[in-house]
Amino acid sequence: MHLQKPVKHLGKQVKRKVVGLLALTAILQLAAQEPLLQNAYNRPSTSLNGNWKYIIDPYETGYRNHRNWLPFDEVASTKASAKPYYMDKVVENPWDRVEYNFNTAPELVVPGDWNSQLEKLEYYEGTVWYRTTFDYEPKKENLVFLYFGAANYRADVYVNGEKVGHHVGGFDSFNFDVTTKLKPQGNSLVVRVDNRREKHRVPNYTTDWWNYGGITREVKLLEVPQTHIQDYSIQLDSKSPDTIKGYVQVANGAGQKASLRIHGTKIRETFQLDETGKAEFRISAKRIKKWYPKRPKLYTVEFTAGKDTVTDNIGFRTITANGPDILLNGKSIFLRGISLHEENPIKPGRAGSREDAQMLLGWARELHCNFVRLAHYPHNEHMPRLADELGLLLWEEIPVYWGIDYEDPVAFAQAKSQLETLVHRDKNRASVIVWSMANETPEVPSRLAFLRELKKTALAIDDTRFISAALERDEKSTANTVKIPDPFAKEVDMISCNEYIGWYSGLPERCSEVNWELPGDKPFFVSEFGGGALYNHHGDKLTRWTEEYQEHLYEEQLKMLRKIPTLRGMTPWILVDFRSPRRNLPLIQDGWNRKGLISNGGFKKKAFYVLQEYYREMDKKYGYSME
Ligand code: GCU
Repeated sequence: MHLQKPVKHLGKQVKRKVVGLLALTAILQLAAQEPLLQNAYNRPSTSLNGNWKYIIDPYETGYRNHRNWLPFDEVASTKASAKPYYMDKVVENPWDRVEYNFNTAPELVVPGDWNSQLEKLEYYEGTVWYRTTFDYEPKKENLVFLYFGAANYRADVYVNGEKVGHHVGGFDSFNFDVTTKLKPQGNSLVVRVDNRREKHRVPNYTTDWWNYGGITREVKLLEVPQTHIQDYSIQLDSKSPDTIKGYVQVANGAGQKASLRIHGTKIRETFQLDETGKAEFRISAKRIKKWYPKRPKLYTVEFTAGKDTVTDNIGFRTITANGPDILLNGKSIFLRGISLHEENPIKPGRAGSREDAQMLLGWARELHCNFVRLAHYPHNEHMPRLADELGLLLWEEIPVYWGIDYEDPVAFAQAKSQLETLVHRDKNRASVIVWSMANETPEVPSRLAFLRELKKTALAIDDTRFISAALERDEKSTANTVKIPDPFAKEVDMISCNEYIGWYSGLPERCSEVNWELPGDKPFFVSEFGGGALYNHHGDKLTRWTEEYQEHLYEEQLKMLRKIPTLRGMTPWILVDFRSPRRNLPLIQDGWNRKGLISNGGFKKKAFYVLQEYYREMDKKYGYSME
């Protein structure tokens, strides 16, 4: 949405009204799709993945009137014309003029970003149209939802020439009720995706990762009965660990009943739903085996309401803090972690498959990790579900990253929407223990209010996990004392910060000269440290970009960090080299950030073994036992 005239020239009271209107519009805009069905991952579905036709449209010829730049689908008069690409028109008479044709267009694979599929789109930032066709006849009385795992950044979705809605946000799932839009044969599904970096978007102008555009995750049709399980939450009550608490929300279920069964236990419950179709529950769970990294016990949980049954694999555990200690199931744990992007370095592009997740999390386990930071945006759902199975704990976050527009209600609405979708999707995952609100965000006046509102948003859905953020640190206070004066530090459960002593500030030797001044009443966590090295580039330990420099930096960092009494975890930056348009040092970076412990060819650098040894020792000495 573009302001028609700069708001700054209006009077104060008018400005307030305009900003309020913007906020309302932004939220309405975001509300252009139905609430996300819980556990779409496990529901019976019809996949629409495959080869879709595409049209590259940088001038939005198929979306906007070229004279007034208005979207065709917002101007009634042009909605029915052949011009908009979403009409998916074909020539019927020899004299017809239709200046596009999906039937004769080339193809892109969905899911998948367009950058890594077509060399001419490697750096492309703009609009691409996708089109697929399918037959579909739902059972009588059922509802049909069109589900997208993600599309970066905005998706406008049309079925048989009619707009079903749009979504903004590049890494979160969304779905539309298309029950009344479908016909038994020959449905046309057209999606406009635009990945432009814009002022009010989250993230906005600059990131240290590749701006992969496209329908990057799966597309499927979900068919459910009129009365269906819309949402649920189920987990141990951290204040009463022998009790399972939660709720079930049934669409069109007012006054009906729903039931819960936990396979492998005697737990079978039936609930009376209230007038909104919701029932809350607390169930004694004395005999439930708790989930641990070393014994990631998952139970098959089954909810039924009417003709709808949904099953989910749930791990039961508690996560709490006691002063600086992090307690998993009441026992102190150290988070031996690593950061990673959603990118498979060997097959460039967004890594969205279960196999990608198995490779990335497999490397983390090889490092003796029990924790992973899924940076800097919500990852695909294979990651938290596989982490549940493997016994890895997770930090998840939204891309409130660097300098987004903290003044803009449109930006806030987008950040809020992305966070709500992430917490809604993963609130039942045992592996997830941290919701992070932000990464390295400059302390402008409006930023604190922005982050406080995001924290409220997360807690309103799930108040059982840690709230954190990669906070701002101050190395300037005195030459060698690092503090964290960030006012948001008072609001988080875990004090986290990124620090690059030895890479961006000083050489590795500086690690031994630095003192950390930290609050003693909360766990301290280093959410990033590290340095770059080109795999198989060797030299002495102070020659930057060599494996030896990176190895030396890790050794000096670990010596410094192990002296911090409240340190309870770390996620060094980063598991694998990753693509970034900001990294342009020829012959060393060539468009890659080289801070990986593993190269983009999948080869381990020397520093990998430094961290692996440190974690192996720690695992042996304090390895997290289980009851
Ligand atoms: C920052 C940022 C990362 C970035 C890293 C780097 O801390 O959080 O996204 O990639 O530094 O400079 O490599």
